[in-house]
Amino acid sequence: MSEDAATYKRRAAERAVDLVASGMVVGLGSGSTTLYAVHRIGDLLRTGELTDILGVPTSEATAAEARRLRIPLTTLEEHPSIDVTIDGADEVAPNFDLIKGGGGALLREKIVAQASGREIIVVDESKLSPRLGTKWAVPVEVIPFGWIQEKEFLASLGADVRLRDGDGGTLFVTDQGNWILDANFGPIDDPATLAARMAERAAIVEHGLFLGLATDVIVAGPRGVRELGRSDR
Ligand code: A5P
Repeated sequence: MSEDAATYKRRAAERAVDLVASGMVVGLGSGSTTLYAVHRIGDLLRTGELTDILGVPTSEATAAEARRLRIPLTTLEEHPSIDVTIDGADEVAPNFDLIKGGGGALLREKIVAQASGREIIVVDESKLSPRLGTKWAVPVEVIPFGWIQEKEFLASLGADVRLRDGDGGTLFVTDQGNWILDANFGPIDDPATLAARMAERAAIVEHGLFLGLATDVIVAGPRGVRELGRSDR
């Protein structure tokens, strides 16, 4: 990551933390941008500028970092409603639809997003896209037993599909013990129909199209930090 990209990610994430107030239950997203927000929340708790925050982490990696920073954590059983979640994205369309899951945490991220009153997405400008699929493949979490069937299914819809690799020649395994197919459709004309088709498949646990879930998008780039206005299509 270039120094500029890291700076933009940090600025967007820190602006989002300005929207967190003491006493809130906060969804903690996953990925390099959200990490800056988690660190900022940890700092503000340490100095006492924020108090009584409870975090709901969207991945084991985020949970470990939050524990290290002594951010108190809770679960969806204890707190089914989350006040605000801060999370990153891989691609952001003008109407705030997203592709997520570049880090493989899309399932818990979507569960937490659906439980959140406010879902704030923090990105650098490179993530803005005229149409989903232009820059990024759609990550699709699959049950290992049925992965090959779903690979063929996604290919039949026109995608170039790859099973995601992990480190050191192993397969990538999600926090739920599943695998990820990265399905490159190119620019997607109708994300809602594609999402509905994938939802019908037995071995597809969840996919990285986040439609109608983001309430706010904060973007940082050379022109500074801005909160985007939604242009619904
Ligand atoms: C994790 O599974 C993803 O959804 C991330 O939120 C997304 O990939 C953005 O990651 P970065 O902030 O690292 O770019």
